[in-house]
Amino acid sequence: MVATNITWHHGAFTREERQKELNQKGLTIWFTGLSASGKSTLASALEQHLVSLKIAAYRLDGDNIRFGLNKDLGFGPEARTENIRRIAEVAKLFADSTQIAITAFISPYISDRDAARKLHDEANIPFIEIFADAPLSVVEERDPKGLYKKAKAGEIKEFTGISAPYEAPLKPEIHIQTDKVSVEEGVQIILDYLREKEYIPQL
Ligand SMILES: Nc1ncnc2c1ncn2[C@@H]1O[C@H](COP(=O)(O)OP(=O)(O)OP(=O)(O)O)[C@@H](O)[C@H]1O
Ligand SMILES: [Mg+2]
Repeated sequence: MVATNITWHHGAFTREERQKELNQKGLTIWFTGLSASGKSTLASALEQHLVSLKIAAYRLDGDNIRFGLNKDLGFGPEARTENIRRIAEVAKLFADSTQIAITAFISPYISDRDAARKLHDEANIPFIEIFADAPLSVVEERDPKGLYKKAKAGEIKEFTGISAPYEAPLKPEIHIQTDKVSVEEGVQIILDYLREKEYIPQL
C-alpha cells in the first residue's frame, strides 16, 4: 500500500546550519565494482581513517544490510534495484545528518547508480562514485568468499560477472585499479580527492 496524506516535517536546523554547528560536511561515497574488487576492504580502511581523524563516517556494506533492512530481497534484477534504492535513501539520510556515508555494494546497474546520484543531486548532497576496478581474472583468483567457484559450478545463480551483468561506470569521480595500487594507496587517493574538494579539512 502506498502512503497518502503525508507531509514533510522540517526540523529547526537547515542542513547548512547543522553542518556549521557540527563542523562537518555530509556526503555519500558510493563504491561500485565486481565481487572481490575491494569495495569492502577500501570502504572499511577509509572509514577507519576518517574516524581516526575525528570525522564521523559510517559504512553501509552489502551483506550486512541484507541481514537486516533488506533481508526480504533476492538477487534478481528487480530486487537488486530495490536493494540499491533503499541503500541510497539510507545513505542520503546519513549524509543529511552531516556524516560521511560510505556504501559498498556491487550495484551493477548504471541506471540504479544514476538514480542514487539523482536522489543526492536533488537534495544538493555530494555523491562520489568510486569504481573499485580489477579484471575478472584477478577477482576470480582472489575469491575470498569462494563465491566465484560456486557461481562457476552453477551453485549460485545470477552472480555478477559470471551469470549476471556488471555495467562499469562511464565517469566515476574516482577510479581505483585495485590490482595496481595497494589498499593504503587507494585510501590516499580518496582522501586527496576529499581534501581537494574541501569536503574534509586539510592536514
Ligand atoms: N589494492 C587492493 N584494494 C582492495 N582489496 C585488495 C587489494 N589488493 C588485494 N585486495 C584483496 O581483495 C579482496 C577484496 O575483497 P572485498 O571483500 O573487499 O571485495 P568486495 O568488493 O567487497 O566484494 P563483495 O562484493 O563480494 O562484497 C580482499 O581479500 C583484499 O584483501
Ligand atoms: Mg564487500
